[in-house]
Amino acid sequence: MGSTLSREEIDGVLAPLEVAVPLGRRAHGDPGVFETEREALFERGWSCVARAEDVAGPGQRVVAGLTPAGVLVMRGSDLELRAFHNVCVHRAMPLADGPGRSDSLTCRYHGWSYDARGRLVRAPHAPACLRARAPGLSPVRVGVWRGFVFVSLAADAPPLAEALRDPPPWLDRAPLEALVRVHAREHVTRANWKLVVSNFQESHHFPAVHPALERLTPTARATSWGADGPWLGGIMQIEPPHTTVSLTGQRARRAISDAGVVYDALAFPGLLTSLQPDYLLTYRLWPLAVDATRVSFEILVHTESARGDHADLVDFWSQVNVEDREIVERQALGMASPGPEPAAYARADEGVHAFERLVARAHAEALA
Ligand code: FES
Ligand SMILES: [Fe+2]
Repeated sequence: MGSTLSREEIDGVLAPLEVAVPLGRRAHGDPGVFETEREALFERGWSCVARAEDVAGPGQRVVAGLTPAGVLVMRGSDLELRAFHNVCVHRAMPLADGPGRSDSLTCRYHGWSYDARGRLVRAPHAPACLRARAPGLSPVRVGVWRGFVFVSLAADAPPLAEALRDPPPWLDRAPLEALVRVHAREHVTRANWKLVVSNFQESHHFPAVHPALERLTPTARATSWGADGPWLGGIMQIEPPHTTVSLTGQRARRAISDAGVVYDALAFPGLLTSLQPDYLLTYRLWPLAVDATRVSFEILVHTESARGDHADLVDFWSQVNVEDREIVERQALGMASPGPEPAAYARADEGVHAFERLVARAHAEALA
């Protein structure tokens, strides 16, 4: 475990919003603080790595980049979903390079093979006693929630259902299992993961940073939801006569949520969701380094609308995502420079405060 925030930093965040002190330079730039968060929040938590559709058939697999070699998530011949460290038991060569489908996996180094259940089935030149010592790939915990596949690198992580307890009512109502991905894009934001989340947690940067978004969902009509985690959310009203958030502003797919409303929700620490009237956005975060965060962005629509043209969404959100990435990377420069520490939360930073309180509480637990 690395270092933690100090008692003073923790208490500063946990104070009431009017007098609270936001997380500052050390929280966003200290490698020890980063290590603590990656271990306590991400590695010991559950990370969304795929949709169930990605591993639907026997032998179907994906590789999630949560470790240098990755985590292999694979549907067995018995249709059981399993996850393993993507590392050969012979001498640690990474096994699969990416998604695929096959009955077995053969290591490219010396040809040891595994079946789709992760069992070692062929080990050329191996000693006779091997089967007892190395029965197969090393398992990782895996679970599915509402069509989303999660893994946890920690054997003692709380159950997935507990980590995702009390989801916001709008996600309960939405047909999440019936959604399919129509767009995916991944990039690395050169900023601490908390800056990426904080930016998602408030909308009062919309007028300056996202003029197109501000026209459709004005920040003046945004409200926060939830305060204690693990889910934090926000609700935005769509400005009539628009009916969805897109280039046209007009709903073009089967409805999956309430007309005229956008519901944002963060599943702490690293899954951001935005439920729109006719589609769902997800941003999956993974902290690569103290100043680098991988962001995997996806657009999902109802399976009945999957075949349509979704350029009205892809083009709109590509622009918004570029705007967010640029502004957060710019903020990271300030956070890494000498100068004043962040002084106060604005009243509209309620969602940022709620998020940083969850971070501060995690540090308080690590301190204890
Ligand atoms: S490391 Fe995989 S077969 Fe040798
Ligand atoms: Fe933004």
